[in-house]
Amino acid sequence: MIGFHSENKIFHLSGKGYSYVFFINEWGYLQQLHYGGKVADDDLTYLKVFDRKSFSPNPCDISEDCSSPDLFAGEFGSFGQGDFRTASAVIRMPDGARMSRFKYKSHTIERGVRKLDGMPCVRSCGEEETLSVILKDAVSGVEIKLNYTVYEDSDALVRNVEYINPTENTVFLERAFSFCIDLQSDAYDVLRLPGHHNKERMVECAPVGHGILRISSERGTTSHQMNNFIALLDKDCTETSGNCYGFSLIYSGSFALLVEVGQTNTTRVQGGISDYGFQWKLGSGETFVAPQTVMVYSGSGPDGMSVAYADFYREHLISPRFVYKERPVVINNWEATYFDFDTEKLSGIIERASAFGADTFVLDDGWFGKRNDDKSSLGDWFVNEEKLKGGLDVIIDDCKKHGMKFGLWIEPEMISENSELYREHPDWAIAKDGVEPCRARHQYVLDYTRREVVDCIYGKIEKLLTGHDISYLKWDMNRHVTENYSAWLSPDRQGEFMHRYVLGVYALAERLTAAFPDVMIEGCSGGGGRFDAGMLYYFPQIWTSDDTDAKERAYIQYGTSMVYPLSAMSCHVSVCPNHQTGRTTPLLTRAAIASLGATGYELDTQKMTKEDCETAKRQIIAYREISDLILRGDVHRLLNPFKGNRFCMEAVSKDKKKVYVVGEEILGESNEKIQRVKLRGLDPDQKYLFRETGQILFGKTLMNAGLVLPNLPDFGSWTWHFDQV
Ligand code: DGJ
Repeated sequence: MIGFHSENKIFHLSGKGYSYVFFINEWGYLQQLHYGGKVADDDLTYLKVFDRKSFSPNPCDISEDCSSPDLFAGEFGSFGQGDFRTASAVIRMPDGARMSRFKYKSHTIERGVRKLDGMPCVRSCGEEETLSVILKDAVSGVEIKLNYTVYEDSDALVRNVEYINPTENTVFLERAFSFCIDLQSDAYDVLRLPGHHNKERMVECAPVGHGILRISSERGTTSHQMNNFIALLDKDCTETSGNCYGFSLIYSGSFALLVEVGQTNTTRVQGGISDYGFQWKLGSGETFVAPQTVMVYSGSGPDGMSVAYADFYREHLISPRFVYKERPVVINNWEATYFDFDTEKLSGIIERASAFGADTFVLDDGWFGKRNDDKSSLGDWFVNEEKLKGGLDVIIDDCKKHGMKFGLWIEPEMISENSELYREHPDWAIAKDGVEPCRARHQYVLDYTRREVVDCIYGKIEKLLTGHDISYLKWDMNRHVTENYSAWLSPDRQGEFMHRYVLGVYALAERLTAAFPDVMIEGCSGGGGRFDAGMLYYFPQIWTSDDTDAKERAYIQYGTSMVYPLSAMSCHVSVCPNHQTGRTTPLLTRAAIASLGATGYELDTQKMTKEDCETAKRQIIAYREISDLILRGDVHRLLNPFKGNRFCMEAVSKDKKKVYVVGEEILGESNEKIQRVKLRGLDPDQKYLFRETGQILFGKTLMNAGLVLPNLPDFGSWTWHFDQV
């Protein structure tokens, strides 16, 4: 619900469990009053603090006896108006001046949510309401529209900003963030998800002191190195209690999230597209739309936050066509063969996998052009008939013969120097004349700021999808963008390059998903390098990491579950010793960890023992039985591997009738201490059958007394099932 009280100029936004309140102060600036647990519709202006401090100036319209914008909690930071904290927008005027005074002009409250053209955005459920507040910059004349969308049944608040230029002049946006809020405390820990290739989304949580903490990527993608999500946690927050505020960007390119504690001990949180090298030319009459951010408030720590994000992204972001559809259990040939395969070898893998119950074969890298290693052919999206005699249809027919579907790997944003595409269009690779471009994995990035490049790649993929029976695509992206330049953009538009690149990627994803709505696309970027809400809008699942080791994956999936639903995580069982770590873990553990997502297998099935094939068969049957919990259930993180020697996660059906628990002992210990784990989210007054032991226990017993954990050797695991009786 969104209310505006004209007598005290208060905006009161309230979702399922939160209130968000701000007002227009005496001088026309927006001032924050409360964001957190629900409050009544009281006049909260009693909370406003107008402070005076030396060295905090006042714009001429605010009397010197009163507050400076430097001191009050705002909703949007402006540059050069007395607020010395980081500004949310920087506008350069024709004379080179950069200063803004954003003051209230008007507002509207409407049903619905604004659809962003050419960018991923949350979907309407018909019930949500959007408040749009227009602020006018008294200096440049530029207007900014702050949009806030409230879904009554959710703890998510969706925000973004539109930058409108109603003036006669052209201006340049040097920063154009998507949201800003000044929280009323300085005592937070900041949780973020840093990492690297093979170790994405590690949980790091540390206090924020005075100064600015910048969480960002300048790589043209969200990156393995830092996810575009942060959460601020009250000091006394535990996994299941305390105030917790999440900020997740619906964006897939270079980004920045800033946390700044200022002299008044408020904490400013803001972000959006990275401002590093960014500049957007905004001509007269033009509008620039910044991506959306989904803010979640939870009064029950990260646990409540993750449940809220998973619900919201499933209900309002991921394609309704796939979100609750049973996902294919794939057999992927990458770790089985790498580039070394032919039709016969693949046929052997398919046959064995179909026998143990996989339902889709995904042909990974190496099937096209003249690709036999990673040095050639990206861009040549036609089959290598020397390698695959008879082409793709022979393999597809083989799949069909075994009752399986077929999926194909592509890397649409890339070009190899040794490719027909490059020989034809060397200028399509991102580069600047006279500067040798950086190579990564021997490849260049295509200039997706150019329409004809996107059109050409679309044409090639369209041909594949119309010419063959393909039900699944794996869209990979194996390097980051380095040269931040396109010869096709004018000098005054070079600062738009990184964002325009992402818009090109979205344009292709949009066209493909619209033209081939039944083809499910899995996102991927050298593992989980572009695991973000922007991609999830187009791709219902994303390859979580190239690291398939069952120990490492426990950490990666634990971190990923902070924001993203289990069904979004693609997880495969691979061979041991593991190709990334050299570690050997039991097949049971590998499958247990991989069952906490969209599961699959990625190994040479021909080399599996008969016994392992039988085990895999049982695993897939067991997975299909719980897959509904993975698709629709609530996730709870019961034991944190970052803080102890065990990992444990739980999925509970929404009606609380079914519970699935997976645990892993990271390293076995002799005389290990006795530890219990308490389940979560059950019905306290209902009885549950503990399938593995036959015991019948009340929900409140399982949640309050818990269960004793088994003592297992290194990487041992357990799976538990509970059914309400
Ligand atoms: C990186 C992906 O994450 C892998 O799964 C695989 O598809 C390779 N690329 C292929 O080059």
